[in-house]
Amino acid sequence: DKAGHKHFMAKEIAEQPAVVGEAIAHYLPAGDDTVRLPGEGIDFSGVSRLVLVACGTAYYACLTAKYWFEQIARLPVEVDVASEFRYREPPVPAGTVALFVSQSGETADTLAALRYCRGKAEKILSVVNVPESSIARESDLALPIHAGVEVGVASTKAFTCQLTVLLILALKAAADRGQINAETLADHIAAIRGLPQLMNVALDDGETVRRAAQWLADTRDVLFLGRGMMYPLALEGALKLKEISYIHAEAYASGELKHGPIALIDPTMPVVVLAPMDPLFDKTVSNMQEVMARKGKVLLISDEAGLETARDGVWVTVKMPDVAPLLSPILYALPAQLLAYHTAVAKGTDVDQPRNLAKSVTVE
Ligand code: F6R
Repeated sequence: DKAGHKHFMAKEIAEQPAVVGEAIAHYLPAGDDTVRLPGEGIDFSGVSRLVLVACGTAYYACLTAKYWFEQIARLPVEVDVASEFRYREPPVPAGTVALFVSQSGETADTLAALRYCRGKAEKILSVVNVPESSIARESDLALPIHAGVEVGVASTKAFTCQLTVLLILALKAAADRGQINAETLADHIAAIRGLPQLMNVALDDGETVRRAAQWLADTRDVLFLGRGMMYPLALEGALKLKEISYIHAEAYASGELKHGPIALIDPTMPVVVLAPMDPLFDKTVSNMQEVMARKGKVLLISDEAGLETARDGVWVTVKMPDVAPLLSPILYALPAQLLAYHTAVAKGTDVDQPRNLAKSVTVE
């Protein structure tokens, strides 16, 4: 049931304020400012290293989580795609917790990577959408994301729910490790509780994105740029676009632009820049200006202050509500998804069933 939407993907994008709210309600129950985990939970105080493993979109959720765990909890994090991790036979030193992220909970490579860690890691955690899945059953602690059934092959609501649960887990790690005081923790929790409302506002501006998508639909290549936590989101935005619109898209950390990809810039290749007004904003904007100086067409996704400062010469702007810097990857996921969706609709591709792709990849 598409609930009045043209595609499951549109329905699932629109559901995000509700399902993210659901995830928040489970992990941050109203009435107090502590993180509640299912079962016995986990205490991060004795953990010395975290390994995050997944595939595809779930891998980009892990890449984002690395910023959170390292910045807030001061916990060293290694992230890998499951198909590389499992065959590299990496050492898993004492004190390592291994965490696997999977919407389906059945991805063959992720499950194999989990089994490799069995008996080696201190504890095996998973962040899953399907609680009765193999990955959930085989972990010491499974953390459900509460996204509900995801039908569209391109993952949307599972991604933002994965991010929400991972951010809350990073806050728990920060508290366990004495890296955050009660007041700061309460501030972060209040900000997270406000996220569904901001997501509603972000979804409102679908029309600007839809118009930009009409033009993207005629291009062959698109570049996504982001810095810090916006870098993994740039990767996710590019993946979403190629999956459903079949347009070649790639993403770079903004700082890498001048190390090669800037050679691609010409008036025919749009560059999507994800840049909230955060401490890295000026750096990203200077990369964006390098693109415009070479006649690249920029689509800038930022907040009011960011657009105020940097809109000169930009081709299209998409305005996001102001959001706490830690939460920006979750909020900015919405315009990235909408851009892919509307581009695919404009091209007339099969949005919910893109060619060559399966919802659950149970063979390697
Ligand atoms: C992208 C997408 C895939 C999955 C990947 C992992 O839109 O859906 O990249 O994210 O196949 O799947 P799960 O999360 O089920 O392990």
